[in-house]
Amino acid sequence: MADGAQKLRSDRVAKGQIMATLFYEPSTRTRLSFESAMHRLGGSVISCSDMKSSSAVKGETVADTAKVVSSYADVLVVRHYWDGTVKAMAEHADVPVINAGDGSHEHPSQTLCDLYTLRKEKGELKGLTVVICGDLKNGRTIHSLVYALARFSANVVTLAANGMELPQYVIERLEKEYGYTLAPVASDDLSAVVTETDALYLTPRQPHQLALFTQLDPVIQTRLNTMVSGLRYDAFYMTRKQKERMKEGTTGGAYPSIGASFLREQRFKDTVVMHPLPRVDELSPELDKDWRGIYFKQAAYGVPVRMALLKFLFDQRDPKPTSTKKSLPIYQSPERLGPQCRNANCITVMEPASTVRKFDLLTGGPGGALILGCTYCDHRFKVQLVGHVKSKRYCAYDIALAETVKDWLKKKELAIFNSIKEAEELGYEPYKSGPQRNIMDEAEIDGAVREISQQILRDCQEPDRLLILGVRSKGSYLAQRIAAEIEKQQNRTPEIGEIEIYGSGDEIRRLSAADPNAAPLSLKDREIILVDDVIYTGRTARSALSIIFRSGRPQAVRLAVLIDRGHREVPVKPNYVGKHIPSSERERVRVKLRESESDEKDKVVIYSIINPNEGAQSEPKPGTTAET
Ligand code: NCD
Repeated sequence: MADGAQKLRSDRVAKGQIMATLFYEPSTRTRLSFESAMHRLGGSVISCSDMKSSSAVKGETVADTAKVVSSYADVLVVRHYWDGTVKAMAEHADVPVINAGDGSHEHPSQTLCDLYTLRKEKGELKGLTVVICGDLKNGRTIHSLVYALARFSANVVTLAANGMELPQYVIERLEKEYGYTLAPVASDDLSAVVTETDALYLTPRQPHQLALFTQLDPVIQTRLNTMVSGLRYDAFYMTRKQKERMKEGTTGGAYPSIGASFLREQRFKDTVVMHPLPRVDELSPELDKDWRGIYFKQAAYGVPVRMALLKFLFDQRDPKPTSTKKSLPIYQSPERLGPQCRNANCITVMEPASTVRKFDLLTGGPGGALILGCTYCDHRFKVQLVGHVKSKRYCAYDIALAETVKDWLKKKELAIFNSIKEAEELGYEPYKSGPQRNIMDEAEIDGAVREISQQILRDCQEPDRLLILGVRSKGSYLAQRIAAEIEKQQNRTPEIGEIEIYGSGDEIRRLSAADPNAAPLSLKDREIILVDDVIYTGRTARSALSIIFRSGRPQAVRLAVLIDRGHREVPVKPNYVGKHIPSSERERVRVKLRESESDEKDKVVIYSIINPNEGAQSEPKPGTTAET
């Protein structure tokens, strides 16, 4: 349709229509191209010249603003600094609302311009390889772009500045919805752009399952390199460092840039360079004169593309199209208190009054975890405590409860809590569990930690490169114990870090750094020992490995666990095991460590779960506690 913009213009397809632009954040291209598009279609535009002069400063919610302005206009175009705000406004408006950028979340109309530009330059999108560079964590244009590229079966190479990698929730969506997998790219291939950063390749063709290797031995490394070497790079998509979304003091470090050396490289002779603009210093002005620098064209296409988008929306208005997309089950708490999105910049946190807390409910996360995905900002987190509304009982979520929880959800009897305190405030009592059997005591756990530490030292090529990474939270405690043991034996403390599979901030961070301003952990060329308390399905380890390989290229990763329960769903084999305890699905193995329970000694217990549906009828015996 954008190709026929001239015709749309002469047909004045938006005659009599009004578009309102509400921009709570600065904008030049997006706002002016939307406004120009509407004028060219024969429509008119109303706007607040600056949202600081709107009722927002008097404390009006975005919900109210959306409701009111939607009675003045036929379409709203909104940009806001909180993730998910535009979705919230769309729920309150009576007319279509276009997302012109919401926080670090998405910027879909920019993606339409990007795809249009790429297709014009390269003929088609399928099979193209696009390198996305820079701030992949906070750059909202990137998030919308990668989903769209996946939809058209293009390959994506990520080249993130250190600490600005593509968020886990974005990668997971690419994996789950589009069947994409990750592979590392030979770094020297891209050294014309950046030398310090590792690249990753996201492809629909599933050349291998990187996440299944616990150790990148030289043979596998060579195989991976040949698999992705000789890639034809069709486009570089550069982005600016989104300083305004970063905490102070976290903006430093090397940042990719494209300059003269890039232009001279023979292998980039057909590679176009794109940028959503504004640029700061990541693109050399020399590129402006080269035919491959197509970012100004990309900005110019903003008008025809947005003309097409507006026309498309006006055509859709009535009757409403029926969606054929299979949607995930939605969870809304039946209780007054309930789960909260962990993304501090989410509209549900910043302005709860404008939202109804709704989540996608996903089973089958790492370790069989139950995951909530915020429907506003898409961030994900793990459910710890579930309750049954009718019997007013709660317990820690466990893979064995998957079917029961699905049933509760169907009957709208599922409660999810942030904490035991919250469950108890709502009058819930803990479910009882079966009798506990001790399978490891304090001395045995100490012995296992010592034995694992010795084995690690025996296998370690260069102790200076050792990095002990614990999976939060019990894996982190064990990692610290292993590090202390190594210190005893070696007289030096290895670096320790922790990895959070479903967190809201940085996924890998330093543990107990003496200096709070210490640089982020570097994974490059390290010998990493990934530590967790229990391995069961193997999915936690796989997710942790995928975060590690996304954040840097280690020399090797080995896996250490205190307990191996067997029953793997994915073939991950731990290198160091404290004890093998084959156990059934109905059983729970719980590692109790003094760091997390003040009144307990270290021990490992096993017990069976009493089906909450049966157990619901019986009274909890005094002294039984919820297992968390
Ligand atoms: C982008 C944005 O606002 O997200 N710009 C744009 O819309 N063309 C990118 C940026 O600000 O870096």
